[in-house]
Amino acid sequence: DPKFYNIKPHIQEKVGENLHNQPQHPLFIIKHRIHNFFKDQNFHLVDDLNPIVSSVRCFDHLRIPKDHPIREPHDTYFYNPTTLLRPHTSAHQTELIESGETKFLCVGDVYRRDTIDATHYPVFHQCEGVRLWPKDSITPEQVEMDLKTTLEKLAKDLFQHAGDSLKTRWIDEHFDFTFPSFELEIFFQNDWLEVLGCGVIHPEVLAHANKSDHIGWAFGLGLERLAMILFNIPDIRLFWSKDSRFLDQFKDIPLRSDAPGAFDTQFKPFSKYPPCTKDISFWCPTDFHEHNFFDVIRSHAGDLAENIELKDEYINPKTGRTSRMYRITYRSMERSLTNSEVDNIQFSIRDSVEQNLGVELR
Ligand code: FA5
Ligand code: MG
Repeated sequence: DPKFYNIKPHIQEKVGENLHNQPQHPLFIIKHRIHNFFKDQNFHLVDDLNPIVSSVRCFDHLRIPKDHPIREPHDTYFYNPTTLLRPHTSAHQTELIESGETKFLCVGDVYRRDTIDATHYPVFHQCEGVRLWPKDSITPEQVEMDLKTTLEKLAKDLFQHAGDSLKTRWIDEHFDFTFPSFELEIFFQNDWLEVLGCGVIHPEVLAHANKSDHIGWAFGLGLERLAMILFNIPDIRLFWSKDSRFLDQFKDIPLRSDAPGAFDTQFKPFSKYPPCTKDISFWCPTDFHEHNFFDVIRSHAGDLAENIELKDEYINPKTGRTSRMYRITYRSMERSLTNSEVDNIQFSIRDSVEQNLGVELR
């Protein structure tokens, strides 16, 4: 289906990488530390499920409305209208609950057409957690309380080296599959960083899993964000680095928070290379969606694109057309870039947006 198929090589090549299963990768370490935190309660770890899922499990079973943007090709990577790259590990909730699991963690790579900056990447990793009880053994308020205290204890365990300087806050949120719903933010690099979403599982989701006689909570952790805080990693692109100056820094780090030396190692940047910025301005077609623009940039610039910022927007009062100016910051984490190398990338981006997104360059 040409309207839906939107998976370019720069995304497809990430399928099967499974960074969370590569020994001593920072995502592998954080996965094990989370699992160890839940070990006393015998949570089952599932970390090898295929990221290609059905829209039924991913959206319908989770009560996501038919007109929600996550169902559209500008937000999610589709093979066809009913087969897609999971945008969250919640896609596995109903199959795992239906199979009889009552306490589990589900870790995997997830795919989203999203913003480009230091804390957003189109392929990242989540850890889903679910805990169920027989319905008559606990009240919804107790479930909510258990969820929040569990996640607060988890944050204290993962970041115990921060001690009292760890700053966290709860935000009320909306998810279609939980009620009530919350997000947890942690203060990092001078700003609040959202690290997880969670809530009390909606009864209709449990009904889709044939477990209407149960009640429980669910959460979805952003593993890159947690590992950035744990190791003080400044940019999310680094998780994809094959550079030994990155990977070797993690090779001796223990997999448990309670092991000796568990908090001795912080990431040391190997040197800061200079950025190079380029602006691009264009008239937008009426169906312009910036996630499509960001996807084109990643497909040409790869990990050299560090940040994209909307700098200016102008609506022509006579024609009603919208013009936008974006600033693209290029920088490698591993070497210095030449201006001509960046110019070549910028030219190919200009050609591609003109041909594929129907914009008129200015
Ligand atoms: C979800 O994905 C929900 N499925 C979480 C959930 C599970 C809610 C179970 C209730 C019950 P959200 O879109 O907020 O929620 O993403 C969860 C986390 O993933 C975020 O808090 C953030 O840490 C991380 N995240 C989201 N987008 C990106 C991105 N582009 N790059 C890196 N991390 C991201
Ligand atoms: Mg969120």
